[in-house]
Amino acid sequence: MAVPVAGAPARPSGGGACRGASRRTRRCRAGRGFLPGRLPRPGAALSPSGPVRPHEVCPGAGTALRAHGGHIVTGHRIVEVEGGEVATIHADDGRVLRAQACVVATNTPFLDRVAIHTKQAPYRSYVVGLAVPRDAIVPALWWDTREDYHYVRLQAGTGGDGRDVLIVGGEDHKTGEAHDTGQRFTRLEHWARRHFPMAGEVVYRWSGQVMEPFDGLGFIGRNPADTANILIATGDSGMGMTHGTIAGMLLTDMLQGRDNAWAGLYDPDRKPKRNLREYVKENLDVAREFARGHLSPAELSSEAAIAPGQGAVLREGVAKVAVYRAEDGTVTRVSAICPHLGCTVRWNDLERSWDCPCHGSRFTPEGGVIGGPAVRPLAPMGEERQADL
Ligand SMILES: Cc1cc2nc3c(=O)[nH]c(=O)nc-3n(C[C@H](O)[C@H](O)[C@H](O)COP(=O)(O)OP(=O)(O)OC[C@H]3O[C@@H](n4cnc5c(N)ncnc54)[C@H](O)[C@@H]3O)c2cc1C
Ligand code: FES
Repeated sequence: MAVPVAGAPARPSGGGACRGASRRTRRCRAGRGFLPGRLPRPGAALSPSGPVRPHEVCPGAGTALRAHGGHIVTGHRIVEVEGGEVATIHADDGRVLRAQACVVATNTPFLDRVAIHTKQAPYRSYVVGLAVPRDAIVPALWWDTREDYHYVRLQAGTGGDGRDVLIVGGEDHKTGEAHDTGQRFTRLEHWARRHFPMAGEVVYRWSGQVMEPFDGLGFIGRNPADTANILIATGDSGMGMTHGTIAGMLLTDMLQGRDNAWAGLYDPDRKPKRNLREYVKENLDVAREFARGHLSPAELSSEAAIAPGQGAVLREGVAKVAVYRAEDGTVTRVSAICPHLGCTVRWNDLERSWDCPCHGSRFTPEGGVIGGPAVRPLAPMGEERQADL
């Protein structure tokens, strides 16, 4: 199956969001290990693998789990996991769960304060969905090979309106480092219309976070410096379907005491070798962010300059304050210091969230945790706290 897309050299992909060319190339190489057949040529999309739809897979997995006596519990934020003969899992409402083993698969692990976070970096990726006439585009998974990277999918329409949805993603940037988030959707839309002239109205827009490991491979296995029954799966690099499947197989073997030939490849404790430069660069970025956050001036000079529905980091003496003005004018003030390891959060005007540029923690406008590694909210002003370390 070949679908030439005007001017867009493309490769089939098992994954989605991705970023810079050097890392992308590594990821293609990593991905090729799982694909049968010869390498595709630029300009043609082959389909050695097919799309996997999470909303179809997950209910099946849930049914299988329950059939084997498992339970699914939702609605609890876990704030601490202790290893030992028995794993002890603490929820934020004080409840405690004990288990033989614990797998933490929370996109980025919250239980590991430092080690893993020096080996992966958070990036945000953007997606638009455009209506296209049914069957006008042959379904395939694509990504292009340019620096301004894009990925393309087709979602078959199920409605009676005769339309499919063309999904176009890209415009990635390191979390907390962009101030033009809205324009990224516009650029994606222009790119989509240039390459797919049949594209109609934009029907969906969203963004999400991807963890980029230093060598493009996930971290799947024993949590570094923890007991053997505390396992993690993270560093998907936009290949959650592939890495998630590998994690299911690899972690099952580990928990059952079976050898698995992939264990070393995905070992969360592995050290950077050939990728030392990338590793050092990412960690220098974090150090720079830490210093910049503490030393830089305020984003705005006064609270009055913050528009309704927006936020900004202000300076009060030596303190950095994350100030949010709700649509109704109510102002919330919390510390801008991320409780994970102390970097300064930035306002994300698209998602209306406070995002930490260091390891990707995200918080609601009022400071509540959206995603880790932080497990505690931004501190109310006047309630200075130590980092979670
Ligand atoms: C725009 C975009 C496009 C992508 N496209 C593709 C693609 O085409 N193919 C592909 O394979 N991958 C793709 N990916 C990557 C894929 O979405 C991710 O790799 C995958 O979702 C990661 O799965 P996860 O289960 O580790 O994390 P998540 O999907 O983030 O799930 C983690 C869960 O843990 C919960 N959680 C977090 N912290 C806690 C806590 N402390 N206590 C309790 N629960 C907690 C969260 O609420 C969440 O439900 C894309 C990603 C993005 C952003
Ligand atoms: S996420 Fe680590 S310092 Fe904020």
